[in-house]
Amino acid sequence: MTGERTLHDPVVRRLRFGDQNDICEHFLQFDNQTRRARFCGAVSNKGVLSYAQNVLRYDGIACGAFVCGQLRGLAELRGLFHSWPATTEPAFSVEAEWQSIGIGDALFEQMFAMVQNRGVGTIQMMRLKKNGHMRHLAVKHNARLVVDADVVEAILYPNWPTPVSIAVEIFAETSRCSYLAFG
Ligand SMILES: CC(C)(COP(=O)(O)OP(=O)(O)OC[C@H]1O[C@@H](n2cnc3c(N)ncnc32)[C@H](O)[C@@H]1OP(=O)(O)O)[C@@H](O)C(=O)NCCC(=O)NCCS
Repeated sequence: MTGERTLHDPVVRRLRFGDQNDICEHFLQFDNQTRRARFCGAVSNKGVLSYAQNVLRYDGIACGAFVCGQLRGLAELRGLFHSWPATTEPAFSVEAEWQSIGIGDALFEQMFAMVQNRGVGTIQMMRLKKNGHMRHLAVKHNARLVVDADVVEAILYPNWPTPVSIAVEIFAETSRCSYLAFG
């Protein structure tokens, strides 16, 4: 893709089973670098597809960022129902051509509201040593970085649900794509 992209508010909302095809399509769009960063290593198309088919299964919930109806970014949460107050490790992906224009930031905000609204005690993001971009996003959203020789992880402790966090989630279900312009 060439040309400047200007993003006005992607639609960020919870993903449901009806979004499964879009989820698979999103994962298969990753270039090699995105795929390596997302999965911390090389994964085959078959492996990626099999992973994508299970994103909403078991205890997983996810929200997606849609630009003009196309899913371009996704935040996944797992481990929400194993223990209480739970710890969850979110994972983020934005298709390469749509990175660095604010989609990850919007997903992070939505993910945080979803976690907060479910009474989750801890958000933990590991394996950030080589991922400066993700580290930046985490710190921007007030994560505490734990750094040692081999490991960098980010930790957040969400508050209890608030009217604002509930409104963020409700608003996301009702918002609309405004517009995306190509220069
Ligand atoms: C990490 C990722 C989710 C971020 O999403 P994104 O939509 O590209 O992020 P945004 O556009 O919202 O982030 C923009 C911010 O990051 C900063 N940024 C961009 N590239 C950066 C880099 N390489 N290092 C540090 N900060 C960087 C920008 O300056 C901007 O900062 P600001 O908001 O303070 O002005 C996305 O790049 C991605 O999918 N990467 C591959 C998969 C991955 O690494 N997933 C995370 C591990 S599970």
